[in-house]
This record gives sequence, structure tokens and C-alpha cells, in this order.
Amino acid sequence: MSRIMMNKIQVFTVVALLQLQVSLAVCNKAGRADYSNSSPVELLQAYIQINTTTYNDLSDAVEFWRQLAALADVPINVYEIVEGFPIVVLKWAGTDSSQHSIMLNSHMDVVPAALEDGWTYDPFSGHIDENNFIYGRGTQDMKSVSIQYYTALRRLKENNVTLLRDVYMTLMPDEEVGAEAGMIPFLQSKEFAEMNVGIELDEGSSFPLPVIAVFYQDKVVWQIKVDCHGVSAHGSTFPATNDTATGKCRNVMNKFFEFRDEQYELAKVAPPNDAGGYTSININKINGGTANNVIPSLISLTIDIRLGTTVNEVQMDAKIRQIIAESGSNITFSYILKNPQSPATIVNASNPYWNAVNKAADELGVGLLATIPPGSTDARHVRNAGYPALGLSPMPNTELLLHSVNERLGVTTFLNGIDLYEKIIYYLATIPAEDTAEDGTEYLKVTAR
Ligand SMILES: *[C@@H]1O[C@H](CO)[C@@H](O)[C@H](O)[C@H]1NC(C)=O
Ligand SMILES: *[C@@H]1O[C@H](CO)[C@@H](O)[C@H](O)[C@H]1NC(C)=O
Ligand SMILES: *[C@@H]1O[C@H](CO)[C@@H](O)[C@H](O)[C@H]1NC(C)=O
Ligand SMILES: *[C@@H]1O[C@H](CO)[C@@H](O)[C@H](O)[C@H]1NC(C)=O
Ligand SMILES: *[C@@H]1O[C@H](CO)[C@@H](O)[C@H](O)[C@H]1NC(C)=O
Ligand SMILES: [Zn+2]
Repeated sequence: MSRIMMNKIQVFTVVALLQLQVSLAVCNKAGRADYSNSSPVELLQAYIQINTTTYNDLSDAVEFWRQLAALADVPINVYEIVEGFPIVVLKWAGTDSSQHSIMLNSHMDVVPAALEDGWTYDPFSGHIDENNFIYGRGTQDMKSVSIQYYTALRRLKENNVTLLRDVYMTLMPDEEVGAEAGMIPFLQSKEFAEMNVGIELDEGSSFPLPVIAVFYQDKVVWQIKVDCHGVSAHGSTFPATNDTATGKCRNVMNKFFEFRDEQYELAKVAPPNDAGGYTSININKINGGTANNVIPSLISLTIDIRLGTTVNEVQMDAKIRQIIAESGSNITFSYILKNPQSPATIVNASNPYWNAVNKAADELGVGLLATIPPGSTDARHVRNAGYPALGLSPMPNTELLLHSVNERLGVTTFLNGIDLYEKIIYYLATIPAEDTAEDGTEYLKVTAR
């Protein structure tokens, strides 16, 4: 390309950019929502109305947070480590930025939802019904928590409360599908390192009893795909069962079901707050076959395994290999997902961060229940990176509706959660400098044998 042409293109670009800016400004003046007088409930409704289904363009959500950051007069940064997946960070500065900070994490993305699935109100409406429930995808998982963090921080700021430690609100994309474009690369980034995190708070879950569940460890996910290759022939022929793809997969399934039955017995007697004591195994896909009268050459199984927290990874891998080997020849398998075991955050008086959360709950007369959930959250990646993490969503006495039809949250429960976070954040961000360890792994415990 010639220099003259280049200059022409540059001039053209500058003119085009100027025009674009002008039109954007006009558009902002006319179309930009103004949240300056919005109540916390209205903010939650507005956030629910932004359709952040995983893989959707998150620009509107980013713009929403830019406006809220401006209203609170705090700096905001947006990092796009993986193109199309913005990570949003709001910083609420404390008086001593050299101290370990408090990271309040939530994810922006939500799982799919549509009115046709049987919702009473549009899942992206934020409708409030006559019983004072806010309906919508994200009311439990976990847009409510993002607005609660934000409102609590704004109140602290407006009340001129001095915090010692920096507090960061981080908003992730891609949580619902494994965090490969969200938390996982963020933990490797220099921006994360510079935050000098002491404790991460992440999501928990609603709980049907009058207590708040606090997740201190997550079960990790292994997913495997098993391919059973066998003889392909006309549907009228009669090969030996163990030579057929279906026969081989039967053997694989029998052995996995044997393992499943054994673990199911353990799960039946596990306390409700401890899903860590068993490994869940579910065969979730069975694929194959070409025609009704052709014996298929290939049948595939996809198996979802959530490891018990004391399961040794090497032994589990060996067990899977043994099942495959004993089920017949020409069966292959590969890992779709194989998370390393994640340590537990220590939840006793030796952990000052845990003490701060407890103190806040005590003052409000709220019970906490340290729990290992059956599923997993972004916090497992954080603990694996060497930082203690606690998962809680302040939704006691609330039906478990994460990922469900008619996901909803009581307005009062939502508002009470703001009061709780105000205290949690205050106590966490004012832990004296000398009370916290330099190395976060001091508050982590490896439990896998
Ligand atoms: C929300 O986004 C999903 C995924 O792109 C889309 O399928 C769905 O139709 C959207 N829903 C609404 C109400 O816009
Ligand atoms: C906070 O400080 C500002 C500036 O000093 C003052 O105008 C405001 O009234 C204070 N707010 C409260 C709630 O004390
Ligand atoms: C088929 O394979 C399974 C698993 O290896 C084995 O237990 C069974 O005895 C075999 N059946 C026959 C008829 O060879
Ligand atoms: C294994 O499967 C492949 C692919 O279907 C086939 O070509 C091969 O002959 C099979 N080998 C045995 C030992 O069954
Ligand atoms: C806290 O738990 C850790 C790990 O289980 C244990 O080593 C430590 O002794 C406990 N400390 C207190 C004060 O209970
Ligand atoms: Zn979630």
C-alpha cells in the first residue's frame, strides 16, 4: 500500500470517527437510561432486562456498569482477554492500597430462558408479582448479588465510611459454560495480580431453611466421551454381543452404573450441607446409529462426573481407564473437561476473613451454614490459584430456582441481602493489616487424599 493511499485512509478514518462520535453523543443524550434516581429494586429489574444469555453480546451490560460506576464516582476498567468476553472491574479504594484487597465477584452471564418454557412472566422482564417476588433469569443466579454488592458499597461511600482495604467488584462473562473466557484467564492476568486479592466472595445458592449457605469448597467437574467401535453389518445378521458397539457400550454403562449405585448409597446418607462426600456420575448423552436396519459401527456416551472432595485424581483416572479396558476391545475415551481438585477455604476462627463474615451475620441475627454444594462455581478456579474464596448468595428461606423456570426472588430477601453485604464488606475491608497472612494459601486446605 502506498504512503499517499495510507494518508487518505487515515484522513478518512479520522473524519469517520469524528462523525461516529457526534452520532454516539446524540444517541446517548436521547437513548441512555438514567439510573440516578433508581432504587436498588429498579436497578435489579433494569439489569434483568438486559439479555446476557451466555455468548450474547455483553455491550449493554458493560454500558450499564459504566453508568453505575459513574453514578458512584468510582473507576471502572473493562478487560477483554478473550475477544467478545468483557471482564468488568469497579474499584472502591480503601485508605491503604498496599493491603490485601477484597474481591466481590459475580458473573454477568445467565443460562437461557424463554417465556415458552412455561414462565408466568417474561424471564427478561423483572416483573414484580402481587406477592412481591421479582421474576427473571438472574434473580437468583446471580444478578441480584451484583446489585447488592453495588448498593452496599454505595451506601458505605455515601455514609463516609472509611475502608482500609481496597474493594473490587468484578463482573465475569462465561461462568455458566466453564469460565474459559472469563475467570480462568483473568486469574492469569497482570490486572488480577495487581489487585493483590486477600479474599474472594462469589456466588452461593438459595436455601430452603432460615440460614445462608456459605460454600467453602466446590466439587470439580470431569466430563468424558466414550466411543465404542464395533462391527457394522446388516440388521438381519447376528454378531456376538461383545463385538457390537451397543454391546460394548452396555458393558461400559453397566460398570459406570455399578460405580453410580455405590456412590448413590453414600449420597443418600450425606448431610444436606455436604455433597463433598460422594462422587456423582451421570450418563447424559448416548449418540449413534444410522438406520433402523443397520448395526452401528459407533456408539458414543458422554458422562458427567463431579468428584467427591477427598477423591484422589490419579486413582479416579485409573478407575475410568480400568472400566474402559475391561468393557471390551476398541473402546476409546477422551476428557472433555478435567478440572484439578480444588482446595477448601478454612472456615474456623483461624481465618480472619471467615470471622469478618460471621460477625456481620451475627449482628443481623442471620445464621450461616458452611456447605459443600453438589455443583460448582468460579470460586474453584480462585482457590486453585491460591486464594481463599467463600460463596454466598443471601437467599435464606428461598426455593432453589437457579437455572429453573420462574426463577424469582422476594423483594424483602433481596433488600435484606444489601444490609448483610454492607456489614460483610465493612468488616472484611477493615480487618487490621497485621491480622491477615501474606500468603492466601494459609487459609486453604487440600482435602483430596
Ligand atoms: C435472549 O438471548 C438469547 C440468546 O441469544 C435468545 O435466544 C433469546 O431469544 C433472547 N431473548 C429475548 C427475550 O430477547
Ligand atoms: C459525607 O461527607 C461529605 C463531605 O464532607 C458531607 O457533605 C456529607 O454530609 C457526609 N455524609 C454523611 C452521611 O455524613
Ligand atoms: C462380554 O464382555 C463383558 C465385559 O468384558 C464380559 O463380562 C462378558 O463375560 C462378555 N461376554 C461374553 C459372552 O463373552
Ligand atoms: C476397531 O475399530 C476400527 C474402527 O471402527 C476398525 O477399523 C478396527 O478393525 C477395529 N479393531 C478391532 C480389533 O476390533
Ligand atoms: C482450623 O482448621 C484447620 C484446618 O482444618 C486446622 O488445622 C486448625 O487447627 C483449625 N483452627 C482452629 C482455631 O480451629
Ligand atoms: Zn451462577
